Amino acid sequence: MNGSELIKAAHAARENAYAPYSGYRVGAALLCENGKVYTGCNVENASFTPTICAERTALFKAVSEGERSFTAIAVVGNDDLCFPCGVCRQALSEFCGTDFTVYLEQDGEPSAFTLGELLPGRFGFGKPENG
Ligand code: THU
Repeated sequence: MNGSELIKAAHAARENAYAPYSGYRVGAALLCENGKVYTGCNVENASFTPTICAERTALFKAVSEGERSFTAIAVVGNDDLCFPCGVCRQALSEFCGTDFTVYLEQDGEPSAFTLGELLPGRFGFGKPENG
């Protein structure tokens, strides 16, 4: 699956965003090494703190289904270049290496970044093998 197809899946996931407080709707589509795609949207909460981002929804759905190997994620929001927040970058870095691709939309085209570019100096104890 290429960047444009992954962006399209992120747009479809964004339809389910639950964002009554911020009005900022986000969709994400995470591509596994095995070709499967897991999607997610942001889900907000009246108590604010429980709010989860689209990227972590997709990541945790995938990991909870047994996936551990990922090659790329696409993220789309209300604006162009909806960069993943710092928490999501750190969460992705638990399972994804520095060459993992992050596709963001700009003027209707996918723009590619690497996780290494977006999160230099990640915190880690070392990548767990059996975490
Ligand atoms: N949000 C995401 O879903 N992903 C990000 O990387 C940044 C922010 C969501 C969280 C919240 O529901 C809304 O966007 C505004 O912060």
